[in-house]
Amino acid sequence: MIRILAADGMEASAIAELQAKGYEVVNEHYEADELGKKLADFDVIVVRSATKVRVPVIDEAAAAGRLKLIIRGGVGVDNIDVKYAEEKGITVRNTPAASSASVAELTIGHMFSVGRFIGIANATMRSGQWNKKKYEGSELAGKTLGLVGMGRIAREVAWRAEALGMKVIYTDVLGQIEGLPYEFMSLDEVLAQADYVSLHIPAAADKKPLIDAERIAQMKDGAILLNLARGALIDTAALCDALDEGKLAGAALDVYPEEPVQDERLLNHPQISFTPHIGAATKEAQTRIGAEIVDIISKFFA
Ligand SMILES: NC(=O)c1ccc[n+]([C@@H]2O[C@H](COP(=O)([O-])OP(=O)(O)OC[C@H]3O[C@@H](n4cnc5c(N)ncnc54)[C@H](O)[C@@H]3O)[C@@H](O)[C@H]2O)c1
Repeated sequence: MIRILAADGMEASAIAELQAKGYEVVNEHYEADELGKKLADFDVIVVRSATKVRVPVIDEAAAAGRLKLIIRGGVGVDNIDVKYAEEKGITVRNTPAASSASVAELTIGHMFSVGRFIGIANATMRSGQWNKKKYEGSELAGKTLGLVGMGRIAREVAWRAEALGMKVIYTDVLGQIEGLPYEFMSLDEVLAQADYVSLHIPAAADKKPLIDAERIAQMKDGAILLNLARGALIDTAALCDALDEGKLAGAALDVYPEEPVQDERLLNHPQISFTPHIGAATKEAQTRIGAEIVDIISKFFA
């Protein structure tokens, strides 16, 4: 019988469907030091972001010879040594499209939150303050949204933003993407023209931040920076400096260089709208991820 380890949990409906198809599913999390040994008894491991499938784990699994498939339920495979696993004959798959709409909606939510002080107004009201005069916001309509990366999530953000009356511009290493009704520009131009800059690209392999003090200096005065992609993309100290100096008006973050966040300066910054890496955390995305996992496994072993 084909055995599947759901190391970071799996949708109940997906487990039931896999069991109905005759697979055995074990829903159990193992620490890195025991995971490799356990994988001797599994054909498939399904992870989210918590479990790391690094070289030593892959070595142990490959030596045992049973593991054939690693699935990341979600987009980013940065918790898996993909190339190494594939060199060892283990296939790695993810579910790239399942959460795009969820991340896009949270991005739009953060734009409203920063523009109208929703998060900070909540926090200060609960501490007894009534900052009616302080929180004069700005509308999204008529503003320019600059998307860095025009992949699955950015496209979902783009049409929603346009529906709200925003002008959408974008940059992408692929260049201008055929069939999209938005204006393509260089990164320099996007930074110079956008009122809101939102990042939707993977982190660089060396984790060097794309947006550092120099890049922030290129942005419009009073612009707002959003990152719901990967924490390493922004130099958060430079971001805090830019907010303190009034160069940027606000920021929104769902992802961080270190998670959970320990950086007190960042955490206490009143001009940043925070969420704890919940871009994909919707019922709908989880259901779609579960369905995609069932599909990947069924096709792989067909
Ligand atoms: N917050 C969350 O919970 C959450 C959930 C899902 C995905 N993500 C992250 O969102 C990001 C985007 O995901 P996606 O599904 O849209 O990816 P995607 O692969 O569909 O799109 C990424 C796009 O960025 C472009 N690109 C790559 N590097 C670039 C660079 N340096 N400059 C400009 N363009 C560049 C690519 O050509 C591609 O078009 C990823 O980092 C992913 O890990 C976050």
